[in-house]
Amino acid sequence: MDEIRRERMEMDRELRRPGERPAAGIGITRRTFLHRSILAGAGGAAAFGWFPLINTLDVSLGATQPGAAATFRVAWISDNHLYPKEVNGRFVDKTVRAVKEVGALNPPVDFLIHGGDLAQLGDPVELDLGAGILKELKVKRYHIPGEHDWYLDMGQKWTALFGQPNWTFDHKGVRFIGLDTVSRGPDYWTAKKMSPKERMGHMATLDGSVAGAWAGVGRDQLEWLQKVLADWPKDKPVVVFSHNPLYEYYPPWNFWVRDWREVQEVLKPYSNVTNIHGHTHQVVYNEIGKMRSIGMLATSWPWPYAPEGVPALTKCMVRVDPGDFYDGVGWSRLTMSAARVDNEYMMWRKDVLADSQVDSGCADNVNQVVHPRVADREWPYYGAYK
Ligand SMILES: [Fe+2]
Ligand SMILES: [Fe+2]
Repeated sequence: MDEIRRERMEMDRELRRPGERPAAGIGITRRTFLHRSILAGAGGAAAFGWFPLINTLDVSLGATQPGAAATFRVAWISDNHLYPKEVNGRFVDKTVRAVKEVGALNPPVDFLIHGGDLAQLGDPVELDLGAGILKELKVKRYHIPGEHDWYLDMGQKWTALFGQPNWTFDHKGVRFIGLDTVSRGPDYWTAKKMSPKERMGHMATLDGSVAGAWAGVGRDQLEWLQKVLADWPKDKPVVVFSHNPLYEYYPPWNFWVRDWREVQEVLKPYSNVTNIHGHTHQVVYNEIGKMRSIGMLATSWPWPYAPEGVPALTKCMVRVDPGDFYDGVGWSRLTMSAARVDNEYMMWRKDVLADSQVDSGCADNVNQVVHPRVADREWPYYGAYK
Protein backbone atom coordinates (compact mmCIF):
# COMPACT_ATOMS: atom_id res chain seq x y z
CA MET A 1 0.00 0.00 0.00
CA ASP A 2 2.91 2.35 0.70
CA GLU A 3 4.04 1.82 -2.85
CA ILE A 4 0.60 2.81 -4.10
CA ARG A 5 0.65 5.95 -1.96
CA ARG A 6 4.06 6.89 -3.31
CA GLU A 7 2.84 6.44 -6.85
CA ARG A 8 -0.26 8.45 -6.15
CA MET A 9 1.71 11.35 -4.73
CA GLU A 10 3.82 11.30 -7.85
CA MET A 11 0.68 11.49 -9.94
CA ASP A 12 -0.50 14.46 -7.92
CA ARG A 13 2.79 16.25 -8.44
CA GLU A 14 2.70 15.61 -12.18
CA LEU A 15 -0.92 16.23 -12.93
CA ARG A 16 -2.54 18.37 -10.30
CA ARG A 17 -0.72 21.56 -11.07
CA PRO A 18 -1.81 24.50 -8.94
CA GLY A 19 -4.90 26.16 -10.29
CA GLU A 20 -5.28 23.72 -13.17
CA ARG A 21 -8.76 22.37 -13.70
CA PRO A 22 -10.93 21.48 -16.65
CA ALA A 23 -12.34 24.41 -18.64
CA ALA A 24 -13.89 27.25 -16.64
CA GLY A 25 -17.47 27.14 -15.47
CA ILE A 26 -17.46 23.47 -14.61
CA GLY A 27 -19.25 22.32 -11.52
CA ILE A 28 -20.99 19.36 -10.03
CA THR A 29 -24.56 19.73 -8.96
CA ARG A 30 -25.86 17.30 -6.41
CA ARG A 31 -29.60 17.13 -6.45
CA THR A 32 -29.81 14.10 -4.26
CA PHE A 33 -31.54 15.76 -1.36
CA LEU A 34 -34.06 17.35 -3.62
CA HIS A 35 -34.81 13.99 -5.13
CA ARG A 36 -34.87 12.35 -1.79
CA SER A 37 -37.49 14.80 -0.56
CA ILE A 38 -39.51 14.46 -3.73
CA LEU A 39 -39.46 10.72 -3.36
CA ALA A 40 -40.54 10.95 0.23
CA GLY A 41 -43.51 13.11 -0.71
CA ALA A 42 -46.67 12.31 -2.59
CA GLY A 43 -46.22 11.10 -6.14
CA GLY A 44 -42.78 9.63 -5.57
CA ALA A 45 -40.99 7.99 -8.43
CA ALA A 46 -44.07 8.21 -10.61
CA ALA A 47 -43.31 11.91 -11.05
CA PHE A 48 -40.37 10.92 -13.23
CA GLY A 49 -42.24 8.80 -15.72
CA TRP A 50 -43.21 5.22 -16.16
CA PHE A 51 -40.01 3.85 -14.71
CA PRO A 52 -38.36 4.95 -11.48
CA LEU A 53 -35.84 7.42 -12.85
CA ILE A 54 -33.56 8.75 -10.17
CA ASN A 55 -30.85 11.35 -10.65
CA THR A 56 -28.40 10.76 -7.88
CA LEU A 57 -25.75 13.15 -9.04
CA ASP A 58 -25.79 15.65 -11.86
CA VAL A 59 -22.44 16.53 -13.27
CA SER A 60 -22.74 19.85 -15.05
CA LEU A 61 -19.73 20.71 -17.10
CA GLY A 62 -19.00 23.97 -18.86
CA ALA A 63 -20.99 27.15 -19.04
CA THR A 64 -24.10 27.52 -21.13
CA GLN A 65 -23.13 30.00 -23.79
CA PRO A 66 -25.61 32.06 -25.76
CA GLY A 67 -25.69 30.85 -29.33
CA ALA A 68 -24.05 27.55 -28.40
CA ALA A 69 -24.72 24.60 -30.69
CA ALA A 70 -27.97 22.72 -30.13
CA THR A 71 -27.86 20.14 -27.40
CA PHE A 72 -28.17 16.47 -28.18
CA ARG A 73 -28.49 13.31 -26.17
CA VAL A 74 -26.35 10.23 -25.94
CA ALA A 75 -27.07 7.10 -23.90
CA TRP A 76 -24.53 4.79 -22.30
CA ILE A 77 -25.12 1.17 -21.34
CA SER A 78 -22.36 -1.07 -20.07
CA ASP A 79 -21.27 -3.83 -17.74
CA ASN A 80 -24.17 -6.17 -18.40
CA HIS A 81 -22.04 -9.24 -17.67
CA LEU A 82 -24.43 -11.56 -19.43
CA TYR A 83 -24.27 -15.27 -18.82
CA PRO A 84 -26.22 -17.64 -21.06
CA LYS A 85 -29.91 -17.04 -20.37
CA GLU A 86 -30.51 -20.36 -18.61
CA VAL A 87 -27.61 -19.73 -16.22
CA ASN A 88 -28.61 -16.21 -15.17
CA GLY A 89 -31.83 -14.62 -16.39
CA ARG A 90 -31.61 -11.62 -14.05
CA PHE A 91 -28.76 -9.95 -15.91
CA VAL A 92 -30.62 -10.51 -19.15
CA ASP A 93 -33.75 -8.88 -17.72
CA LYS A 94 -31.79 -5.85 -16.59
CA THR A 95 -30.17 -5.42 -19.99
CA VAL A 96 -33.56 -5.68 -21.66
CA ARG A 97 -34.88 -3.07 -19.24
CA ALA A 98 -32.03 -0.63 -19.98
CA VAL A 99 -32.59 -1.05 -23.72
CA LYS A 100 -36.32 -0.43 -23.32
CA GLU A 101 -35.72 2.68 -21.24
CA VAL A 102 -33.27 4.10 -23.76
CA GLY A 103 -35.69 3.26 -26.57
CA ALA A 104 -38.51 5.08 -24.76
CA LEU A 105 -36.62 8.38 -24.53
CA ASN A 106 -38.34 11.23 -26.29
CA PRO A 107 -36.69 12.93 -28.07
CA PRO A 108 -34.57 9.91 -28.95
CA VAL A 109 -30.84 9.79 -28.32
CA ASP A 110 -28.52 10.60 -31.20
CA PHE A 111 -26.55 7.45 -30.52
CA LEU A 112 -25.79 4.80 -27.90
CA ILE A 113 -22.38 3.94 -26.54
CA HIS A 114 -21.97 0.42 -25.28
CA GLY A 115 -19.06 0.64 -22.86
CA GLY A 116 -17.98 -3.00 -22.62
CA ASP A 117 -18.40 -6.07 -20.40
CA LEU A 118 -21.44 -7.12 -22.37
CA ALA A 119 -20.52 -10.75 -21.61
CA GLN A 120 -19.39 -12.31 -18.34
CA LEU A 121 -16.96 -14.96 -19.58
CA GLY A 122 -16.44 -13.95 -23.21
CA ASP A 123 -18.58 -16.88 -24.35
CA PRO A 124 -19.90 -16.47 -27.94
CA VAL A 125 -23.35 -17.43 -26.61
CA GLU A 126 -23.20 -14.51 -24.15
CA LEU A 127 -21.97 -12.04 -26.77
CA ASP A 128 -24.61 -13.15 -29.29
CA LEU A 129 -27.27 -12.82 -26.62
CA GLY A 130 -26.16 -9.26 -25.83
CA ALA A 131 -25.87 -8.26 -29.47
CA GLY A 132 -29.41 -9.55 -30.06
CA ILE A 133 -30.83 -7.48 -27.19
CA LEU A 134 -29.00 -4.31 -28.22
CA LYS A 135 -30.19 -4.73 -31.81
CA GLU A 136 -33.70 -3.97 -30.59
CA LEU A 137 -32.58 -0.40 -30.15
CA LYS A 138 -33.09 1.47 -33.39
CA VAL A 139 -30.36 4.02 -32.88
CA LYS A 140 -26.77 4.16 -34.05
CA ARG A 141 -24.48 2.21 -31.72
CA TYR A 142 -20.78 2.46 -30.97
CA HIS A 143 -18.99 -0.24 -28.99
CA ILE A 144 -15.83 -0.44 -26.95
CA PRO A 145 -14.76 -3.73 -25.36
CA GLY A 146 -14.49 -4.76 -21.70
CA GLU A 147 -12.11 -7.37 -20.38
CA HIS A 148 -14.95 -9.83 -19.87
CA ASP A 149 -15.70 -9.68 -23.60
CA TRP A 150 -12.16 -10.32 -24.68
CA TYR A 151 -10.00 -12.88 -22.94
CA LEU A 152 -11.63 -16.16 -23.96
CA ASP A 153 -10.71 -15.82 -27.64
CA MET A 154 -8.70 -12.57 -27.48
CA GLY A 155 -11.45 -10.49 -28.98
CA GLN A 156 -12.26 -12.62 -32.03
CA LYS A 157 -15.98 -12.93 -31.45
CA TRP A 158 -16.33 -9.37 -30.15
CA THR A 159 -14.65 -7.81 -33.20
CA ALA A 160 -16.68 -10.04 -35.52
CA LEU A 161 -19.85 -8.63 -33.94
CA PHE A 162 -18.89 -5.02 -33.29
CA GLY A 163 -15.85 -4.18 -35.43
CA GLN A 164 -12.84 -2.05 -34.62
CA PRO A 165 -12.47 -1.54 -30.84
CA ASN A 166 -11.23 2.05 -31.18
CA TRP A 167 -12.77 4.76 -33.34
CA THR A 168 -13.39 8.48 -33.70
CA PHE A 169 -16.01 10.76 -35.22
CA ASP A 170 -17.26 14.33 -34.88
CA HIS A 171 -20.81 15.14 -33.90
CA LYS A 172 -22.26 18.64 -33.51
CA GLY A 173 -19.01 20.29 -32.55
CA VAL A 174 -17.70 17.52 -30.29
CA ARG A 175 -14.92 15.08 -31.18
CA PHE A 176 -15.76 11.63 -29.86
CA ILE A 177 -13.10 8.99 -29.37
CA GLY A 178 -13.57 5.37 -28.33
CA LEU A 179 -10.53 3.72 -26.77
CA ASP A 180 -9.75 0.05 -26.29
CA THR A 181 -8.25 -0.25 -22.80
CA VAL A 182 -8.52 -4.01 -22.40
CA SER A 183 -6.81 -5.89 -25.22
CA ARG A 184 -3.20 -5.18 -24.31
CA GLY A 185 -2.87 -7.16 -21.09
CA PRO A 186 0.64 -8.55 -20.54
CA ASP A 187 0.77 -12.30 -21.23
CA TYR A 188 0.14 -14.02 -17.90
CA TRP A 189 -1.19 -17.23 -19.45
CA THR A 190 1.38 -18.79 -21.81
CA ALA A 191 4.08 -19.57 -19.26
CA LYS A 192 1.47 -20.99 -16.92
CA LYS A 193 -0.05 -23.06 -19.74
CA MET A 194 -3.54 -21.75 -19.07
CA SER A 195 -6.48 -22.77 -21.20
CA PRO A 196 -8.51 -19.92 -22.75
CA LYS A 197 -11.15 -20.52 -20.07
CA GLU A 198 -8.59 -20.24 -17.29
CA ARG A 199 -7.17 -17.09 -18.86
CA MET A 200 -10.67 -15.61 -18.98
CA GLY A 201 -11.42 -16.75 -15.43
CA HIS A 202 -8.64 -14.59 -14.03
CA MET A 203 -10.20 -11.55 -15.69
CA ALA A 204 -13.53 -12.21 -14.06
CA THR A 205 -12.53 -11.19 -10.54
CA LEU A 206 -12.34 -7.79 -8.87
CA ASP A 207 -9.11 -8.55 -7.10
CA GLY A 208 -7.37 -10.01 -10.14
CA SER A 209 -4.00 -10.99 -8.70
CA VAL A 210 -2.99 -13.38 -11.47
CA ALA A 211 -3.89 -11.19 -14.45
CA GLY A 212 -2.00 -8.28 -12.86
CA ALA A 213 -2.07 -4.79 -14.33
CA TRP A 214 -3.85 -5.69 -17.55
CA ALA A 215 -5.58 -2.40 -18.36
CA GLY A 216 -3.71 -0.11 -20.71
CA VAL A 217 -3.98 1.94 -23.89
CA GLY A 218 -0.71 0.80 -25.46
CA ARG A 219 1.87 2.67 -27.47
CA ASP A 220 0.29 2.11 -30.87
CA GLN A 221 -3.08 3.37 -29.72
CA LEU A 222 -1.49 6.35 -27.96
CA GLU A 223 0.10 7.29 -31.27
CA TRP A 224 -3.27 6.87 -32.95
CA LEU A 225 -4.88 9.07 -30.28
CA GLN A 226 -2.31 11.77 -30.83
CA LYS A 227 -2.92 11.59 -34.59
CA VAL A 228 -6.70 11.82 -34.40
CA LEU A 229 -6.46 14.84 -32.09
CA ALA A 230 -3.81 16.65 -34.13
CA ASP A 231 -6.23 18.69 -36.24
CA TRP A 232 -8.65 19.46 -33.39
CA PRO A 233 -8.54 22.95 -31.83
CA LYS A 234 -7.16 22.82 -28.29
CA ASP A 235 -10.19 24.48 -26.69
CA LYS A 236 -12.90 22.49 -28.49
CA PRO A 237 -14.65 19.66 -26.63
CA VAL A 238 -13.29 16.15 -26.72
CA VAL A 239 -15.17 13.22 -25.21
CA VAL A 240 -13.18 10.02 -24.72
CA PHE A 241 -15.08 6.81 -23.99
CA SER A 242 -13.10 4.03 -22.37
CA HIS A 243 -13.98 0.90 -20.43
CA ASN A 244 -11.44 1.59 -17.66
CA PRO A 245 -10.83 4.97 -16.03
CA LEU A 246 -7.96 6.85 -17.70
CA TYR A 247 -6.47 7.82 -14.37
CA GLU A 248 -5.28 5.93 -11.35
CA TYR A 249 -8.32 5.38 -9.18
CA TYR A 250 -7.52 2.11 -7.40
CA PRO A 251 -4.84 -0.11 -8.98
CA PRO A 252 -5.40 -3.18 -6.74
CA TRP A 253 -8.80 -3.57 -8.38
CA ASN A 254 -7.59 -2.54 -11.81
CA PHE A 255 -9.56 0.71 -11.65
CA TRP A 256 -7.04 2.49 -13.88
CA VAL A 257 -4.90 2.15 -16.99
CA ARG A 258 -1.25 1.44 -16.31
CA ASP A 259 -0.10 4.00 -18.90
CA TRP A 260 -2.13 6.89 -17.44
CA ARG A 261 0.92 9.15 -17.59
CA GLU A 262 1.23 8.77 -21.34
CA VAL A 263 -2.52 9.18 -21.84
CA GLN A 264 -2.53 12.39 -19.81
CA GLU A 265 0.48 13.62 -21.75
CA VAL A 266 -1.40 13.25 -25.04
CA LEU A 267 -4.56 14.88 -23.68
CA LYS A 268 -2.86 17.65 -21.72
CA PRO A 269 -2.88 20.31 -24.48
CA TYR A 270 -6.68 20.08 -24.72
CA SER A 271 -8.63 22.14 -22.22
CA ASN A 272 -12.06 20.58 -22.56
CA VAL A 273 -11.69 16.81 -22.24
CA THR A 274 -14.29 14.53 -20.69
CA ASN A 275 -13.55 10.87 -20.09
CA ILE A 276 -16.59 8.67 -19.69
CA HIS A 277 -15.80 5.19 -18.46
CA GLY A 278 -17.45 1.98 -17.27
CA HIS A 279 -15.83 -0.91 -15.37
CA THR A 280 -16.08 0.61 -11.87
CA HIS A 281 -19.85 -0.05 -11.65
CA GLN A 282 -20.54 3.00 -9.46
CA VAL A 283 -21.16 6.72 -9.26
CA VAL A 284 -17.72 8.31 -9.41
CA TYR A 285 -16.41 11.68 -10.61
CA ASN A 286 -12.86 12.98 -10.71
CA GLU A 287 -10.72 15.70 -12.23
CA ILE A 288 -7.07 15.21 -13.13
CA GLY A 289 -5.34 18.20 -14.62
CA LYS A 290 -7.63 19.53 -17.34
CA MET A 291 -9.47 16.24 -17.80
CA ARG A 292 -12.66 15.30 -16.01
CA SER A 293 -13.84 11.72 -15.62
CA ILE A 294 -17.30 10.38 -15.06
CA GLY A 295 -17.81 6.75 -14.03
CA MET A 296 -20.90 4.99 -15.31
CA LEU A 297 -23.27 2.53 -13.68
CA ALA A 298 -23.47 -1.16 -14.53
CA THR A 299 -26.74 -2.90 -15.30
CA SER A 300 -25.49 -6.06 -13.56
CA TRP A 301 -24.18 -5.29 -10.05
CA PRO A 302 -22.51 -2.39 -8.21
CA TRP A 303 -18.91 -2.71 -7.07
CA PRO A 304 -18.14 -1.37 -3.61
CA TYR A 305 -16.19 1.86 -3.40
CA ALA A 306 -12.45 1.42 -3.19
CA PRO A 307 -11.19 1.60 0.39
CA GLU A 308 -8.79 4.36 -0.58
CA GLY A 309 -7.77 6.19 -3.69
CA VAL A 310 -8.63 9.01 -5.99
CA PRO A 311 -11.01 10.62 -5.57
CA ALA A 312 -11.52 10.66 -1.83
CA LEU A 313 -15.25 10.28 -1.56
CA THR A 314 -16.96 13.28 -0.13
CA LYS A 315 -20.31 11.61 0.09
CA CYS A 316 -20.91 8.12 1.37
CA MET A 317 -22.95 5.52 -0.45
CA VAL A 318 -25.20 3.05 1.23
CA ARG A 319 -24.15 -0.49 0.54
CA VAL A 320 -26.52 -2.16 -1.82
CA ASP A 321 -29.27 -4.43 -0.69
CA PRO A 322 -28.29 -7.96 -1.70
CA GLY A 323 -31.93 -8.91 -1.70
CA ASP A 324 -32.74 -6.36 -4.39
CA PHE A 325 -31.45 -7.30 -7.83
CA TYR A 326 -31.97 -3.77 -9.10
CA ASP A 327 -30.16 -2.01 -6.33
CA GLY A 328 -27.35 0.41 -7.16
CA VAL A 329 -27.34 -0.32 -10.89
CA GLY A 330 -28.67 1.30 -14.07
CA TRP A 331 -27.47 3.20 -17.13
CA SER A 332 -26.78 6.80 -18.11
CA ARG A 333 -28.11 9.62 -20.25
CA LEU A 334 -25.69 12.34 -21.35
CA THR A 335 -27.01 15.64 -22.64
CA MET A 336 -24.31 17.42 -24.60
CA SER A 337 -23.53 20.48 -26.59
CA ALA A 338 -20.25 22.04 -27.65
CA ALA A 339 -20.28 23.92 -24.35
CA ARG A 340 -21.71 21.52 -21.82
CA VAL A 341 -22.05 17.91 -20.76
CA ASP A 342 -24.74 16.86 -18.28
CA ASN A 343 -24.77 13.35 -16.97
CA GLU A 344 -27.83 11.78 -15.44
CA TYR A 345 -27.46 8.44 -13.75
CA MET A 346 -30.56 6.36 -14.37
CA MET A 347 -30.18 4.43 -11.17
CA TRP A 348 -32.64 1.70 -10.36
CA ARG A 349 -32.87 2.62 -6.76
CA LYS A 350 -34.78 5.18 -4.80
CA ASP A 351 -32.29 6.25 -2.21
CA VAL A 352 -28.57 6.03 -2.69
CA LEU A 353 -26.59 8.23 -0.39
CA ALA A 354 -26.07 7.55 3.28
CA ASP A 355 -26.36 9.86 6.25
CA SER A 356 -24.04 7.93 8.51
CA GLN A 357 -20.64 6.37 8.05
CA VAL A 358 -21.76 2.95 9.06
CA ASP A 359 -22.06 0.79 5.97
CA SER A 360 -21.20 3.81 3.90
CA GLY A 361 -18.31 2.81 1.71
CA CYS A 362 -16.33 5.86 2.84
CA ALA A 363 -13.27 3.84 3.72
CA ASP A 364 -14.32 3.76 7.35
CA ASN A 365 -13.09 0.18 7.60
CA VAL A 366 -16.21 -0.81 9.44
CA ASN A 367 -17.51 -3.05 6.73
CA GLN A 368 -14.53 -3.72 4.58
CA VAL A 369 -11.11 -4.92 5.48
CA VAL A 370 -8.80 -5.10 2.54
CA HIS A 371 -5.72 -7.21 2.84
CA PRO A 372 -2.62 -6.53 0.75
CA ARG A 373 -2.16 -9.24 -1.82
CA VAL A 374 1.06 -10.96 -2.76
CA ALA A 375 0.67 -9.64 -6.29
CA ASP A 376 0.68 -6.05 -5.03
CA ARG A 377 4.35 -6.40 -4.30
CA GLU A 378 5.17 -8.16 -7.54
CA TRP A 379 3.38 -6.13 -10.15
CA PRO A 380 5.26 -4.82 -13.18
CA TYR A 381 3.19 -1.68 -12.48
CA TYR A 382 5.93 -0.60 -10.12
CA GLY A 383 8.47 -0.80 -12.89
CA ALA A 384 8.63 0.76 -16.34
CA TYR A 385 5.66 0.87 -18.64
CA LYS A 386 5.91 -1.68 -21.43
FE1 LIG B 1 -17.83 -4.69 -15.57
FE1 LIG C 1 -14.60 -4.40 -16.75
